[in-house]
Amino acid sequence: MCGIVGYIGKKDTQAVLIEGLKKLEYRGYDSAGIAVFTNQGLQIAKAQGRLANLESKLEGTPLVGSAGIGHTRWATHGKPSDVNSHPHTDNSHKFSVVHNGIVENYLELKDELISQGHHFVSETDTEVISHLIAREYDGDIVKAVQKAIGYMRGAFALGVLTEYEPDKLVAVRQASPLIIGIGEGENFIGSDIPAILQYTRKVYILNDGEMAVLTQDSVELMTIEGNFISREMIHVDWDAVTAEKGGFEHFMLKEIHEQPKAYRDTMRGRIDESGKKVVLPELKLTADQIKNIRNIQIIACGTAYHAGLVGRSAIESLVRIPVETDVASEYRYRSPIVTPETLVIVVSQSGETADTLAAMREAKANGAHVLAITNVVGSSIARDADDVIVTLAGPEIAVASTKAYTSQLIAFYLLALYLAEVRGTQTPEAVAQIVAAMQALPEQVESMLAKPDAIKAYAEHISKHEHLFFIGRGLDYAVAQEGSLKLKEISYIHSEAYAAGELKHGTLALIEEGIPVIALATQEAVLEKTVSNIKEVNARGADIMAITHEENVAGLLKSVDQAFAIPKTLPLLTPALSVVPLQLLSYYASLARGNDVDKPRNLAKSVTVE
Ligand code: F6R
Repeated sequence: MCGIVGYIGKKDTQAVLIEGLKKLEYRGYDSAGIAVFTNQGLQIAKAQGRLANLESKLEGTPLVGSAGIGHTRWATHGKPSDVNSHPHTDNSHKFSVVHNGIVENYLELKDELISQGHHFVSETDTEVISHLIAREYDGDIVKAVQKAIGYMRGAFALGVLTEYEPDKLVAVRQASPLIIGIGEGENFIGSDIPAILQYTRKVYILNDGEMAVLTQDSVELMTIEGNFISREMIHVDWDAVTAEKGGFEHFMLKEIHEQPKAYRDTMRGRIDESGKKVVLPELKLTADQIKNIRNIQIIACGTAYHAGLVGRSAIESLVRIPVETDVASEYRYRSPIVTPETLVIVVSQSGETADTLAAMREAKANGAHVLAITNVVGSSIARDADDVIVTLAGPEIAVASTKAYTSQLIAFYLLALYLAEVRGTQTPEAVAQIVAAMQALPEQVESMLAKPDAIKAYAEHISKHEHLFFIGRGLDYAVAQEGSLKLKEISYIHSEAYAAGELKHGTLALIEEGIPVIALATQEAVLEKTVSNIKEVNARGADIMAITHEENVAGLLKSVDQAFAIPKTLPLLTPALSVVPLQLLSYYASLARGNDVDKPRNLAKSVTVE
């Protein structure tokens, strides 16, 4: 989730780029940089941290020129640092590239380029692109870019400049958004509308597999194979704030809608070319270490802890290693048993949560190997862990975590499959079946997001209540806990998540006429038992909504007031789907209550106190 801006025209290029990058600041980033054609050739300035750091670097030595590209980076390959920041260049310093997305086969390409004498300075996948373009250049930058992307696998949006053709700016879109802004005697590129909105409202939206060649006075659109295309120009009438939210009313809703992309990005490069096997090249954990693991402890807080509950089921069922889950603030105080054969998995979107960090340090001090699942590459947790799996959800701005949670689920599924492969606890066919089902998840999420009306209406109904219950068994109980937390934190409705079978041990006393109960009934193996528990609350007059599969709707409607069907996947993967209506439910309930959805009371995006 990096940001790209590009400019060719007569204005002060550096100022246009910096202003554009400022408009992308809301997305969060860890470094920024620009490249400009100056009368001394292509000059690059970049700095880790806030944009202000880049601005102070440029003070006194501005880059003056007529075309340039800029970038804000959210680290994926390689830690945040000046050298890993974009734009990247090649050994001749004649080419410059900004890139959003992931080049899956960059290691292969890098090895090949090194063997051909190319010298690399950064840890990024992007640097490979500038070297490839330089290698392929034969007097025509468009052809060189086309040839280079022919070697690349993955998702990318690119802005490319070469000193040899200073009148051209080349842009490419392949599964990562990019727009072209049209001005008078000037043209722009942007990964997002806010980057260019202050200069023009006329845009072309590139589709996957398309590119554009910009000069000051023209824009040519073509496929990456070089066939020219025509496209209707769009007039953007969003205000600046709406533009930041991609047209959504709130960041939370935008991020809920970004989940299909977050799923795809988190899986990208971690499923081998056969599509049947998981590969986690980033792990230092050796096969021998994996075979020796005796127990696993998953430690996290809040939503990340709820992802850990699903992770526990995935690992226990696929790998048959005993797994404990702990909320981080409790972990240290129960004298956990840790040996060198213990794998501790810490989960944290921000990578800065004080409780999780403290628990992780304790586990490390006791000799555990610590693997972090985090969304922030350069975070304290990522730096201190022995191993890191980065979730590629991109920056999450709404305080309520949505796409980070579901990306954590994907990371857990990948990890469990990988451990199962190494320990031989699943057949290749079983692994392939799960991998195939995982790859279908993004589309299944899209299908639910396309039909929010039933959930919206139900959210308006529950928004008038002060108390409600979520119930479920097994993985449904894990998801119920996340649904309940989400609802509490942004709608301020009091809710409890209960293991459906546990209600009868006391809590049924609280079920009275009209109290809303949300029953998750997606796990076929325990469906009959869940239905019995639903009947217990039905008999006491509860107003019940079930989340289930289409084939169970008719049967359940005998005991519930309404039922919402989610698409079918493997039981283990169902949380990655069943949580989506619950996220929408809390969003719309919060909206109906007039709350500040993105900034709920008493909760910060990163909790750095114990
Ligand atoms: C809920 C929420 C919190 C966080 C928790 C852990 O939406 O955002 O419960 O999940 O504070 O934060 P991270 O994952 O950053 O460690």
